[in-house]
Amino acid sequence: MKVNVKNHTMMYPAPAVVVSAYDMDGNADACTLAFATMCSHHPPAVMIAINSTLKRKTLKSILQSEEFCLAFPSVEHLAEVDYLGIESGYNADKLSEINFHHHKALKVNAPIIDEFKVSLECRVMHIVEVGSHTQITGEIVNVQSDESVLNEKGKVDFELLDPLAYDDITHSYYKTGERLSGAFKPGLVFRK
Ligand SMILES: Cc1cc2nc3c(=O)[nH]c(=O)nc-3n(C[C@H](O)[C@H](O)[C@H](O)COP(=O)(O)O)c2cc1C
Repeated sequence: MKVNVKNHTMMYPAPAVVVSAYDMDGNADACTLAFATMCSHHPPAVMIAINSTLKRKTLKSILQSEEFCLAFPSVEHLAEVDYLGIESGYNADKLSEINFHHHKALKVNAPIIDEFKVSLECRVMHIVEVGSHTQITGEIVNVQSDESVLNEKGKVDFELLDPLAYDDITHSYYKTGERLSGAFKPGLVFRK
């Protein structure tokens, strides 16, 4: 039997990513986001949504600079990711507090956080207000990865990266788990 549960924004699985941008003075801002997903292959693009009804310093910096980086934190950095999501850059130099380092990205003027193993360099393509959030589409102009999370074919390996997942319903972090199968093949058993 199905029952109605509370109407809430939800998506499974949802990531916990960290976006970063420089403010007008060249200081690096970074905050944690669960509202983030892929949205185009050509050009490669991702979409993020940041609450515009609350004061988010990183949103202001992304809108000003029109460039940002998006990192996929590994499970090992859970506490640092949480801190980046509970403190504001208006009150603290968050990256220094967690002893993280950053440098200017290769193709965009935005900070890449060294401790995160995979980062996208993005240029803002499109901005739209969606209810409480500003939804920003970023064209991915470069991807940087630690060699340590690449497989033998030079591709990012999901299990080596061990990306952090987040559940907005119970406000909990999750580990994502093991590879089950290749895609685009198991469904062939149903094709007539
Ligand atoms: C796990 C997690 C996920 C979050 N997801 C979002 C999100 O998708 N959008 C958003 O606007 N804020 C989100 N936040 C809240 C911001 O990260 C938080 O308000 C942060 O302090 C903003 O920092 P800033 O002012 O330095 O930009 C999330 C926080 C956590 C802990």
